[in-house]
Amino acid sequence: MMALWGGRLAVAAVLLLVVVVSEGQPLVPGVFIFGDSVVDAGNNNNLYTLVKANFPPYGRDFSQHFPTGRFCNGKLATDFTVENLGFTSYPPAYLSQQATGNNLLIGANFASASSGYSDGTANLYRAISLTQQLQYFKEYQSKLRSLARGKASSIVSGSIYVISAGSSDYVQNYYINPLVNRAYTLDQFSDSLVQSFTTFVQNLYGLGARRIGVTSLPPLGCLPAAITLFGGGGNECVARLNKDATTFNKKLGAAADGLKKSHPELRMVIFDIYGPLLDLVNNPGNNGFFEARKACCGTGTIETSLLCNGRSPGTCANATGYVFWDSFHPTEAANKVLADALLLQGIDLIS
Ligand SMILES: *[C@@H]1O[C@H](CO)[C@@H](O)[C@H](O)[C@H]1NC(C)=O
Repeated sequence: MMALWGGRLAVAAVLLLVVVVSEGQPLVPGVFIFGDSVVDAGNNNNLYTLVKANFPPYGRDFSQHFPTGRFCNGKLATDFTVENLGFTSYPPAYLSQQATGNNLLIGANFASASSGYSDGTANLYRAISLTQQLQYFKEYQSKLRSLARGKASSIVSGSIYVISAGSSDYVQNYYINPLVNRAYTLDQFSDSLVQSFTTFVQNLYGLGARRIGVTSLPPLGCLPAAITLFGGGGNECVARLNKDATTFNKKLGAAADGLKKSHPELRMVIFDIYGPLLDLVNNPGNNGFFEARKACCGTGTIETSLLCNGRSPGTCANATGYVFWDSFHPTEAANKVLADALLLQGIDLIS
């Protein structure tokens, strides 16, 4: 009964959302995005790093078939979310040339591929650490004050903040870096990541943020690269990695509850992407997909970033039926499914 009532409430809220958005005014003043390659919209293009996606076939299904630096054939889940909120353009990548003047009034994107809760992860790949992303947000705020004057503080407090991090800390750091995995047990490592998360949110709150959504870890063991690297030659999701993700997600949930208690004005939602992505991987056909093991780009087993390029042999002609675009990142089609799930989960942030 409660579940049914909750379901009806959610449907009513979404209907309300559709009505409000159709009036032409976005539901919130802006969106700010922090984290890793799942949400990077082009910041790494401007860095001295190997982790980039600003060349074909990345972006081949984006508007004007343009590679923007998004690690996807098309839109990211956050792009759909921004559209669902009623915006007609995306918050600009903060290091891009678009991040200027009135474009900054709807927020900004500070995310950087290969960044994570551990600054050490970002440093390994010359990505922008979360600590630095927060510095950029401070710098942004002084620009906003001169652009928006009296409205700056209501933009900051009314906007939605999205944090996506953690995958790179495991897959691109802990699992492959003996300097880290010999120094910390998995339990200690996840504790340190969650501690960084808590500190990051406290700092963001201190800078005026009040509506924060944070993504859970995905089923790490189902990423095609993880199956290739850690799957022992099999073709199944790596159970050990999925368990690590589940453990982390539990700790993240507990930390979020603690933050909400200690910060009465904070609205915080954990966006569960573990469940929806695992469902896509286990039951691709239910959602109109036919391939959930191999990615579209190249052989679909290992290629990402530089290795997924215009000369990669075997890239699929149409990514629509694929869950994964490259060996780490979902396709636009899968991102759409994830964004629909986020919409329902995120009602608390906009009501
Ligand atoms: C890919 O396939 C889908 C579904 O089969 C179709 O709707 C779409 O037009 C195709 N896209 C391209 C670029 O061929």
